[in-house]
Amino acid sequence: MVGKLLLFTSLTLTLFAGNAYERECVACHQKLPMSLQRMFMNYLLVYSGETNTKVALKYYMRHPRKDTSVMSDLFLKNFAVKKPMTISDKVLDEAIDIYWEKYKVIGKLR
Ligand code: HEC
Repeated sequence: MVGKLLLFTSLTLTLFAGNAYERECVACHQKLPMSLQRMFMNYLLVYSGETNTKVALKYYMRHPRKDTSVMSDLFLKNFAVKKPMTISDKVLDEAIDIYWEKYKVIGKLR
């Protein structure tokens, strides 16, 4: 019950502020030629399953490296490996949860 209330409150709050995913991910990714949806599908293909995918995403956001990237060499050559994210664990988890919820259905339909 308390959990539900908290969830509801945080959902309401994020609705007003633009959620963590929009603030921390979309804002920067808008400049890139490949959509966040395509990148998500690449992750699902390589890692599959909610836990694996989320752990891998989180790890990459903290430790981006050419040899663990799912992006092509050509893409990385043109855009370089991203910078490690320094936002708090809480916000990063929140952003990745939203990212997962947003695209997991499309992943299942594939
Ligand atoms: C400051 C800009 C910036 C921000 C903020 C950012 N990204 Fe990225 N992201 C990039 C760039 C540039 C690449 C392509 C280079 C690479 O893959 O390292 C990328 C690559 C990725 C990839 C492919 C990773 C791979 O294996 O190469 C995923 C998935 C991704 N971003 C998701 C996210 C999510 C989720 C967030 C928010 C938590 C986020 N990004 C925040 C710039 C950003």
